[in-house]
Amino acid sequence: MSKPNVVVIGGLMTPALERLQNFCSIKQWKKENDIPRDILLEWVADAEGLIVNNSVAVNEELLQNAPRLKVIAQMAVGYDNIDIEACSKYNVPFGNTPGVLVDTTADLAFSLLLCSARRIHEGWDFVRENSWALGHKLSFGIDIAGKTLGIVGMGQIGAAVAQRAKAFGMNVIYYNRNRRHDDDKIGAAYQSFETLLNKADAIIVLTPLSQETRGLFGREEFRKMKSTAYFINVSRGPVVDTDALVEALQTGEIAYAALDVTDPEPVARDHPLLTLSNILITPHIGSATVETRTAMAQLTVDNLLAGLEDKPLAACVNASRIIGKE
Ligand code: DGY
Repeated sequence: MSKPNVVVIGGLMTPALERLQNFCSIKQWKKENDIPRDILLEWVADAEGLIVNNSVAVNEELLQNAPRLKVIAQMAVGYDNIDIEACSKYNVPFGNTPGVLVDTTADLAFSLLLCSARRIHEGWDFVRENSWALGHKLSFGIDIAGKTLGIVGMGQIGAAVAQRAKAFGMNVIYYNRNRRHDDDKIGAAYQSFETLLNKADAIIVLTPLSQETRGLFGREEFRKMKSTAYFINVSRGPVVDTDALVEALQTGEIAYAALDVTDPEPVARDHPLLTLSNILITPHIGSATVETRTAMAQLTVDNLLAGLEDKPLAACVNASRIIGKE
């Protein structure tokens, strides 16, 4: 029996790729630039499985061009590049990788808070540039114990960040579109969005990107924050109006920002964000550890192989909308 055709966009950790190769015939786009749309559409024309990354827009056009497609998987928990309605319309299950990246992403979010509060990256620059030896002074950071952390988007990662913040002596509040009813368990108190903006000494953004959250943080929101506030985004760049953030940091409307995600990505070398001194930016590395990326790749392959066999995916976003497979 011939192996099913699978298109893979981007890299996949070797053990997962080898597992996929045992069962499938693979066409993989490994180049650094994004796959040109015409090549992608040509490749998916006879594909039964597709693994994408967030540079690929999966929409009606793509699905129309892929009549044999049985499953799509992505090695990420976020799926703002995927038109889930369209996948369901074409009866194609879409699998993502929740759960396995929770602690790793929470670690990064909390590290960004600690690194900015204690000026760790500035300290390293200071040493490397010989300023220490020359007797110069480095500006002080702030304590986080006793401060209020506001988490926007209280899912599994939010709860893991809350746990870390409690351990560091912080008071934790959160806002979530759907109010949770386990505040005691997660150790965080629900507040309205407005109250959170007013009260928080530091805000960590973890909400997924959707029509509702695009541009959630703009001029008005930064104005409502404390002038001493630290703003940390680990979700998606477009949740923040970047021009408004630059302005808020330049005028002292807020104190500091740490971003693992930007809009656009990657951030251009001459972008105003890079001219600021009160910012720390990392290159979208929320889940980037060997262990977590390996687990994500394996879950992606689990999802894909299950879909090829018409079995329920281990983690399926549109399970309830798929007829006869779930
Ligand atoms: C995720 O898993 O959504 C990460 O942000 C990678 O895109």
